[in-house]
Amino acid sequence: MYSKELNAINKSNRYRKRELEDKDLIDFASNDYLGFSSNKKLLEKTFEVVSSYVSHAPKSSQLVNGYHPIHQKFENYLTNINGFENAIVAGSGFLANIALIEALPRKKDLLILDEQYHASGVLASKLVDAKVKYFRHNDMENLEEILLNSDFQRAIVAVEGIYSMSGDLVDRRVFDICDRFNALLIVDEAHSVGVVGKNLLGVFDLFGIKPKKNHIKMGTLGKALGSYGAYILSSSHIGEYLQNRAKSLIYATAPSLLDIELANQGFLYMHKNTEEISEQIYLRKEITKKYFGYDMSGLIFPLEIQSSKDVLEMQKKLQKQGFSVGAIRPPTVEIAMLRIIPRINIEKKVYEKICRFLSEVKN
Ligand SMILES: Cc1ncc(COP(=O)(O)O)c(C=O)c1O
Repeated sequence: MYSKELNAINKSNRYRKRELEDKDLIDFASNDYLGFSSNKKLLEKTFEVVSSYVSHAPKSSQLVNGYHPIHQKFENYLTNINGFENAIVAGSGFLANIALIEALPRKKDLLILDEQYHASGVLASKLVDAKVKYFRHNDMENLEEILLNSDFQRAIVAVEGIYSMSGDLVDRRVFDICDRFNALLIVDEAHSVGVVGKNLLGVFDLFGIKPKKNHIKMGTLGKALGSYGAYILSSSHIGEYLQNRAKSLIYATAPSLLDIELANQGFLYMHKNTEEISEQIYLRKEITKKYFGYDMSGLIFPLEIQSSKDVLEMQKKLQKQGFSVGAIRPPTVEIAMLRIIPRINIEKKVYEKICRFLSEVKN
């Protein structure tokens, strides 16, 4: 029924396939930045906590009777460490973006997204009645120009803390611009939490920005925290609105208790080991700089390869060397690239090895 579409995908080297992870390969592909996904102590502690409750499943929506003390405890922890008034857990980052982007912009409002904003936000933007515009990636002049030249009741701007594919850091000026235009600012911190900031809490932490009423932070648990799920931090007012209007929070089973507790344990571990983790991140940045002259903002090293065919070949070559890396192709990115994640639980010398190999085969 869809052969024509599949053939076209195949022809352009954009065919995707799920494959079980090859455990013989060293994982430079996943977003498990801090290696928490294999930390059994975190898992054991989680099991212990969740087992102490009568019910270990959320059972229903947070808005029915699925809101559990484990959710609430985690939300309180998040508001405390991040300095926001309100937190709401969500089933995933995808669902959290759908919640935010579908619910916040109303008729007569203007939604402005960075052109590299995550696919979940782009999808949600197609569901809104508001006007939707995109600004050039991380181009603050372009964002300002759009805000200056548009009529709107409310403006909502959406950016990522560290962009998931290009790996670059959001321009700090976005905070000032949003303040000046009284715009709501959504910062998707999927790839910055656990990786940047004095306390490893992401870009608010990195830039020393005290959350204001117009700030919204979305964090995910499936990356540095080694779990699954997400959270939305905001003012109490925005939190109250989302709880009453965001469909993916209302009409979905509450997040898994095991996943939320696992992320909670991940945060506690991160808090205890901030210095050591930060040092390990710094060392991976130094290696990337040494071999490629590239300054990583977080722990994403994007290496452009030009064609989709070449990037797949390069990925195969790396597999033969024992390394797993992401080969990202259009339409996910404009130019095909290897996405290399120097996870800090992989020894530095192994990261040096892949860098040496890449610098040799690429030249
Ligand atoms: C920037 C960004 N936002 C949101 C998501 C979605 O998060 P999740 O995987 O938790 O659904 C992802 C990752 O897939 C992402 O990279």
